[in-house]
Amino acid sequence: MHIIKSASILTEYLTNLRSSDKNVTVGFVPTMGALHEGHSSLIDESVRSNSITVCSIFVNPTQFGEENDLVTYPKPIENDIALLIKHKCDVLFLPSVEEVYPDQFEATVFDLDGIDFKIEGASRPGHFQGVCNVIARFLQIINPEIAYFGQKDFQQTVVVKKLVQILQSKTKIAVVPIKREPHGLAQSSRNVRLSKKGRQNAAFIYKAISQVKEDYKSLGLQESVAKAIQFINAQKGAKVDYLLAVDTTTLNEVTNVSDANEVAVLTVVEYEGVRLLDNIIL
Ligand code: PAJ
Repeated sequence: MHIIKSASILTEYLTNLRSSDKNVTVGFVPTMGALHEGHSSLIDESVRSNSITVCSIFVNPTQFGEENDLVTYPKPIENDIALLIKHKCDVLFLPSVEEVYPDQFEATVFDLDGIDFKIEGASRPGHFQGVCNVIARFLQIINPEIAYFGQKDFQQTVVVKKLVQILQSKTKIAVVPIKREPHGLAQSSRNVRLSKKGRQNAAFIYKAISQVKEDYKSLGLQESVAKAIQFINAQKGAKVDYLLAVDTTTLNEVTNVSDANEVAVLTVVEYEGVRLLDNIIL
């Protein structure tokens, strides 16, 4: 695996590959490191479908609200490199902040039809604009045929699809299903902060949203959502931050499945002081 730290060298490397073989396709997996099986499922998908897979590890300062969160973000780079080699990633792009945001860089404010202000965006002002700016920059550097994002961060996938439309980019956005621990908890770098017992118990989140999928036809959407919230809040140490059914394109809340072509149930649960995200498409 090549490790490239310079944006211009990466662009040049990929341009040379493309000019020597017209059939080269580049798959791109953006990450912030601390890689786990959720990330490697994106790498596997890219390796399967493309001749070259580029993974970036960059803890993007512009998408963090609290300085503290940014500073304490885990950076186990040796483990990450080993995981990427194991999964046959071809190139690791490991830039510095100055490389991604050089002095002459000017942040863009993207008009995302208000999607960036909703749900996660409401509690993290500026977060999705930060994501869009870093992804726009990476698309410019790498120009991939396909970029891979996890369904786990559902709102991020909607935002990024909107971004490529705005940029009129040729890059296709692939959404990879949520990789889960054996009992159902969505894989996340935050799971290590749970106690051993808590990590086992936390499967109640997936259980609750799966139950909505089973219930909504008989109980109706509103009642099944209310039942899931009640079920989660009844678990010791757990509190629903939000759990709602939304239209998967606008992210507007829906009360009936007939209100949208496709409906997803999105949730964040605070458990043992950890914010756990999950979702399911109905
Ligand atoms: P990060 O949190 O490192 O996640 C990188 C990618 O891995 C995201 O697309 C995320 O949805 C995906 N992912 C995480 N856990 C997953 C799981 N259990 N199953 C499937 N996919 C999973 O998301 C970001 O970084 C950043 O916002 C980024 C896109 C890199 C921009 O800075």
